[in-house]
Amino acid sequence: MAIILDGKALRDKILQDLKVKIDSYEVKPSLAVILVGDNPASQIYVNNKHKIAQKIGIKSEIINYPTDITEETLLNKIEELNNNSAIDAILVQLPLPEHISKDKVINSILPDKDVDGFTPYNFGKLFSGEIPTVYPCTPKGILLMLDEYNIELDGRHAVVVGRSSIVGRPLSQMLLNRNATVTVCHSHTKNLSQITKTADILISAVGKNIIKGEMLKSDCVVVDVGIFKDENGKTRGDADFETSSKIASYISPVPGGVGPMTIASLMLNTVELFKKHRLN
Ligand code: GUN
Repeated sequence: MAIILDGKALRDKILQDLKVKIDSYEVKPSLAVILVGDNPASQIYVNNKHKIAQKIGIKSEIINYPTDITEETLLNKIEELNNNSAIDAILVQLPLPEHISKDKVINSILPDKDVDGFTPYNFGKLFSGEIPTVYPCTPKGILLMLDEYNIELDGRHAVVVGRSSIVGRPLSQMLLNRNATVTVCHSHTKNLSQITKTADILISAVGKNIIKGEMLKSDCVVVDVGIFKDENGKTRGDADFETSSKIASYISPVPGGVGPMTIASLMLNTVELFKKHRLN
């Protein structure tokens, strides 16, 4: 039976340490989160981020816009936040409505305040093997979790399922930087299970029930990034937990695995940006 990668416990430990640090600062780090529209999942994520930030002493504000806001209004707001020296970190919750260009919006965030590490400047640094201002939150949280359990990456075969710019793409680069041999699979990949069977570390970020125990190599590590509600309304991940946990040596649960680590990373990134801005 696989050991559970307990993201919740690690998140709590990280936040506890971070709170002690923040308590010692006279001026507090500040995070601005922009939420456009009424996507229920995004609303839950943003409220969670806000609550946790406040709990550990980060000044957090949520800026809510209706779905039909113009791109220009959003770009103007980002410019205002860029120019506001009291703001350390800016996050635009994705996805955005279709009439707004995600690329334009992300591009407009100052790389120095880009708490997601999503701007072309920070992505470019990451992809060229340099050190970005901060690393994207979900991939960073995954690596912190693997490190906490002393899971070796060097020379091992990491298979990433999903090529999103939030998880799959940046994660594949971060694994490469750690000397893993990386394969990225996606919706056009043929014979997925032939590839997953060769994974020492399998990271799935699809949001669909696609990983079954029979697709895994014995004693592999499964990191489950997917989260969705099944037909019975139960929250679950990409991997079938029952069959996968019998084959793997470690597995991250959903909920309670990667999700909490994303939030911990966001708080770490906010404090990193704050330090760069104000403690020099
Ligand atoms: N939507 C889902 N995950 C994320 C994330 O990590 N950052 C942002 N900005 N939006 C998201």
